[in-house]
Amino acid sequence: MAQSNVLPSPDEARTPEEFVRLLRRLRAWSELTYRELEVRAQRHGLHLARSTTAAVLGRGALPRAGFVHAYVAACGLTPEPWLGARQRIAAACAAPAAPAAHGAEVPAVPLVPAQLPSDIADFTGREAQLQAVEEELTGASGTPNGVVPMVAVSGMAGVGKTSLAVHAAHELSERFSDGRLFVDLRGANAAPVEPGEVLVRFLRALGVPGSAAVPDSVEELAVLYRTLSADRRILVVLDNAASERQIRPLLPGVGGPAVLVTSRHRLTSIGAVRSVELGPLPPEHGVEMLARIVGADRVAAEPEAAADIVRLCGQCPLAVRVAGARLACRRQWPLGRLAGLLRDEQRRLDELTIGDLAVRESLEPEYAALPDATRRTFRLLGLLEVPHFTAGDAAVLLDCPVGLAETHLEALVDASLLAAVPAEGVGGTRYRMHDLVRLYARERAMVEESAG
Ligand SMILES: Nc1ncnc2c1ncn2[C@@H]1O[C@H](COP(=O)(O)OP(=O)(O)OP(=O)(O)O)[C@@H](O)[C@H]1O
Ligand SMILES: [Mg+2]
Repeated sequence: MAQSNVLPSPDEARTPEEFVRLLRRLRAWSELTYRELEVRAQRHGLHLARSTTAAVLGRGALPRAGFVHAYVAACGLTPEPWLGARQRIAAACAAPAAPAAHGAEVPAVPLVPAQLPSDIADFTGREAQLQAVEEELTGASGTPNGVVPMVAVSGMAGVGKTSLAVHAAHELSERFSDGRLFVDLRGANAAPVEPGEVLVRFLRALGVPGSAAVPDSVEELAVLYRTLSADRRILVVLDNAASERQIRPLLPGVGGPAVLVTSRHRLTSIGAVRSVELGPLPPEHGVEMLARIVGADRVAAEPEAAADIVRLCGQCPLAVRVAGARLACRRQWPLGRLAGLLRDEQRRLDELTIGDLAVRESLEPEYAALPDATRRTFRLLGLLEVPHFTAGDAAVLLDCPVGLAETHLEALVDASLLAAVPAEGVGGTRYRMHDLVRLYARERAMVEESAG
């Protein structure tokens, strides 16, 4: 039988040259011209310029994954085995030269990215939320076949979104045996990471070698990313997302992968995302967390002071972490001493600072990003002495119509600087500001309102 009549198998290739040779044999087998391949690719919604095909088949370099995808699909075959072979060869080329020098076999498995940061040893509580995340990501909650499961963990600064996501991702590592991708999207910073930059990083992690060119446009990068992630058991953790716009190109296309997002913002316009809202830790978990940081003996010796510290931290994990870290490096301090310092509202935010961990600094970017009128609303709300208020109360405070007050309040809820609590008999919603957020708002009011 003439070789052109035999369908070549991508597994036969070990080097870029052999791979391209098989692609040439594939075209001979398909009996299609470059022009016909271009037209057929178009029918799949893919781009395969004749000139590119001619150039790629004429060289010995490993073609881009996007090309392989379009070319193999145009030949009428499933691209995945070819993409898998391409990725295996790319990974072997990117690997240090040592194995080849020792005559070792090229690894037959694609790269398995393991990008998760380390889990915290003293992770405490959050059982229900962990279970919700786990059920959603593993499809146990009934995500239809082929749909990418997605969970968004939201909540205020320092409430423990990243810690929960990283902990859950480690727990699920075995389920996502093809890899775990992680990126801090720096959504709370003035300059969040651009999706194109993240896509390039992810593509490299999935085996596209550093020496290989990648497309320029975000759309093409996203297509390639969807191709390489399709049907693979990959967990994608998008930490600290700024907006839907930032994460949309980073979502895989078909089932296999799953996505875990964290954000201080409510991501409402991405369809099919299960939302897990994190609030302050229950008091007993706050105390347990403190005990793990400072030592169970110290907490057992001063249980009331420990409970006071957790309460004065508003049960916010970041604040408890800072308080705990301060006590851990001052073993001679009784817990009551720190509780005493935290009781002074004027000084509390100053006390909740150690090294690069600080409650005040964690709130600053969120506040800075708000429109002027919403920032003013936030400051004035900090002066309220009541735990809950309605849009009507805010309207009186701001001296504006209720509808406008509500708009500002909702913007603050979206930024997790305010919590909305459903309530009966007060027009449906009451609002609550976390104690530490209120202290920050009041500080801003003291500085900015008196300056104005
Ligand atoms: N469940 C937990 N058990 C123990 N420590 C926790 C827990 N949750 C959070 N922490 C600690 O609290 C601090 C803040 O947590 P984390 O960074 O996860 O918050 P975040 O919500 O992601 O904050 P940001 O909005 O700034 O990204 C960290 O030091 C973390 O170690
Ligand atoms: Mg975080």
